[in-house]
Amino acid sequence: MADTKILAICGKGGVGKTSISALMVKRLAERNDKKILAIDADPAVGLATSLGIQVRKTVDDIRKGLISTIQKGQSTGDRETLNRLDYEIFDALEEREGYALLAIGRPEDEGCFCRVNKLLKDIIGDLAGKFDIVLIDGEAGIEQINRRVMKTVDHLILVSDTSAKGVGVANTIAHVAVDNRAVDFRSMGLLLNRVKREDEVNDIRTRTRLDIYGWIAEDDLIRDFDFRGTPLTDIPAASPALEVISRVLKKMNVLQED
Ligand SMILES: Nc1ncnc2c1ncn2[C@@H]1O[C@H](COP(=O)(O)OP(=O)(O)O)[C@@H](O)[C@H]1O
Ligand SMILES: [Mg+2]
Repeated sequence: MADTKILAICGKGGVGKTSISALMVKRLAERNDKKILAIDADPAVGLATSLGIQVRKTVDDIRKGLISTIQKGQSTGDRETLNRLDYEIFDALEEREGYALLAIGRPEDEGCFCRVNKLLKDIIGDLAGKFDIVLIDGEAGIEQINRRVMKTVDHLILVSDTSAKGVGVANTIAHVAVDNRAVDFRSMGLLLNRVKREDEVNDIRTRTRLDIYGWIAEDDLIRDFDFRGTPLTDIPAASPALEVISRVLKKMNVLQED
């Protein structure tokens, strides 16, 4: 997957990962001639909802089906199984204008089905390689991305609100990513969200060694879209949050300068 750029969004629950992911998908889908794959790696399938998509089938549904055929002795994981899995993942893709979405679904049940997990990860990897830009809306931790989606990403985007807890979780994820080599990445940074005053950003700068990619202000429009359950992809082009997101995407070389 030589030219595929992979972006992963991580951070504490509720800090705005899914909102930011949805706005990134919107920006990338409308401004690029690139092939975009969004991966909803949150078991609650929040990204799909923010994009206005009802998911028909998740990777985990496919996984459960496969495990049950193996358990019934109807499959040994041969060539035929692989072809079927390929087809099923392709079938689970939700294709929309300018992008496609794949939902991972619920975390795996107890018991190790390592071979099945590896098979699925390989297939997700192959699929990702067919796209120019892949954006993963993760859960809180980075380990899940490694375990369930892929091990190597280009840009690890840690999202946090201005709370000490949020920044603390971002710092911890960074620590796990670097020291425990939970994922391999080329760049990593913090994207602050729901900022009320700019001096909060300056204060946070003194408390983290993370590079700050940018900051998004507390935004009534985002709140309101969420309140009404309107897909964030419908947010007006003049949204200040979208402006920040464009800058961050340009910094990562996944969006061209105007
Ligand atoms: N910049 C913002 N301004 C106001 N509300 C926001 C902003 N970003 C996110 N929110 C709200 O915060 C809540 C959590 O956001 P969400 O994207 O679901 O977080 P996460 O995916 O990290 O759990 C949602 O209700 C969302 O509307
Ligand atoms: Mg979320």
